[in-house]
Amino acid sequence: MEDHLKSCTQSKSKCFSTKFISIFVSSLFLVIILFHTQYSSPFEFSLSARSQIRAFLSQENYSDVIETMNAELKDSVTFLPLKDLRFTETARDGHTWFMSSLNDILEENETEHLYFPSKESKGRLLCFKGRDIRDGTKNSYALAWRGSLPDSAILLEGLTFVSDTYYNHDNLWHGICAMAPLVRWSMKNECLNPARWVLFHWGELRLKMGSWVQQLMQANFGEVKVEGFDRGDVPYCFEKAIVMRHDLGQMKQENKLKVSDQLRCKARSYCGLNPAGKGREMNERGFPIIRLTLLMRRGSRSFKNATAVTDIFAKECAQVEGCILHVAQSEDLSFCDQVKVLTNTDIVASPHGAQLTNMLFMDRESSVMEFFPKGWKENAGVGQYAHHWMANQSGMKHQGAWWDPIGEECPSPQDHLQCFHFHKDGMVGHNKTYFAEWARRVIDQVRLSKVELASVDQAKQLHDSKACVC
Ligand SMILES: *[C@@H]1O[C@H](CO)[C@@H](O)[C@H](O)[C@H]1NC(C)=O
Ligand SMILES: *[C@@H]1O[C@H](CO)[C@@H](O)[C@H](O)[C@H]1NC(C)=O
Ligand SMILES: *[C@@H]1O[C@H](CO)[C@@H](O)[C@H](O)[C@H]1NC(C)=O
Ligand SMILES: *[C@@H]1O[C@H](CO)[C@@H](O)[C@H](O)[C@H]1NC(C)=O
Ligand SMILES: *[C@@H]1O[C@H](CO)[C@@H](O)[C@H](O)[C@H]1NC(C)=O
Repeated sequence: MEDHLKSCTQSKSKCFSTKFISIFVSSLFLVIILFHTQYSSPFEFSLSARSQIRAFLSQENYSDVIETMNAELKDSVTFLPLKDLRFTETARDGHTWFMSSLNDILEENETEHLYFPSKESKGRLLCFKGRDIRDGTKNSYALAWRGSLPDSAILLEGLTFVSDTYYNHDNLWHGICAMAPLVRWSMKNECLNPARWVLFHWGELRLKMGSWVQQLMQANFGEVKVEGFDRGDVPYCFEKAIVMRHDLGQMKQENKLKVSDQLRCKARSYCGLNPAGKGREMNERGFPIIRLTLLMRRGSRSFKNATAVTDIFAKECAQVEGCILHVAQSEDLSFCDQVKVLTNTDIVASPHGAQLTNMLFMDRESSVMEFFPKGWKENAGVGQYAHHWMANQSGMKHQGAWWDPIGEECPSPQDHLQCFHFHKDGMVGHNKTYFAEWARRVIDQVRLSKVELASVDQAKQLHDSKACVC
């Protein structure tokens, strides 16, 4: 060292040029590596560029430097709260309050989403830590390279579906809105099935989805495993993860219909139904079969006099040759019974309630008639139109609703919330004249469209065909 320093001071210019050349050569090498890194995928980076650096450095016995760098990378993995309270006011907009540091990948007509590892994540995997079910700020997320996952992290292999919803995964309507983007994503990506699901509501972990929603997902993807992160309080990292946090988000009508077609198709096949040709059924005298189903419920929002309502519909149905009335009690039906009943329905008439989500299983263009108790129209807000929206996105015709005008007045009519609670679980009466005219009109419309259908080419029934997209 001493000698070297000395020689440097003695013949400064020679020493300088040797040093300059060695610096130049190593810089050149580095530039080549960086250039290579820039233009290859993240995976290649970890595999090829890193091993090149390793080979280069080990010549100089720098393996300990690599160790240190890797340890530093592990330690620099930063966990942020899943729910970011700074965005409470705009919880559902843009990057939302869930994993708010990350911007969505945008695809035309599709729901905004995140994918890991990707170009956008610079090849890093997604990791979660925490399993709080009441406070989303106590759960956290981080990005890490596969070779530098945080200490004691568990790597979960295969593809993981992550869904955070502002509403919930239990209710049939909200559940289906949260799941539809994942179904659609799979349809666009080789029909991939997830190895597991991770569910959040406002960043709070959820351990299950509603049973109807779960069975529908099972029909579509096979066994549904909801991850509970119960192998210790450590980070869990995903080999591959797709994250949806906007419910339907920017998904366009056309794609919503495709998702509905897919779910209908898979549910029917899961339940062993083969409805090919159903739409063109004729009776022995050549009249089209029209299947009208009264889907009843018990308790809140049931009909005050179900017999009277049945009588009205039965009378109108009897007046149209080919019309068949079926009365079903929704609570008594298993998932597959529901699929079966609605598969064999052209017109469903039912009080407002979750059972109406089963309209999904009717052929496209089928009809929905909905009934509300007194007080809903004025006090229930836009949520009461959920089945209008559902009909729209599953390709059904919502033939309108009837709001019962008769019943007790709520104590303080100005207070909508209080009034809604007053009327929420009310029962539904009937108006014989109105119901009869309405039923007659809808049955006739369906009859006409069936006559028309019988005369068009079979090829036009493609979307009801047996072959599911996935
Ligand atoms: C690196 O240096 C250490 C300590 O000087 C030595 O024990 C080790 O064998 C060296 N490794 C290589 C690959 O040269
Ligand atoms: C998006 O939808 C519009 C109409 O809804 C259509 O014209 C366009 O081709 C779609 N784009 C893609 C990429 O599917
Ligand atoms: C229900 O309606 C039927 C048929 O209209 C009627 O005979 C019966 O009395 C009604 N029941 C009640 C409890 O009002
Ligand atoms: C559903 O709603 C969209 C947008 O509001 C509209 O363009 C479309 O025509 C509707 N579809 C049906 C089947 O009513
Ligand atoms: C029942 O419906 C008919 C037809 O819409 C209407 O004229 C009548 O006023 C309604 N009756 C009651 C009691 O609301």
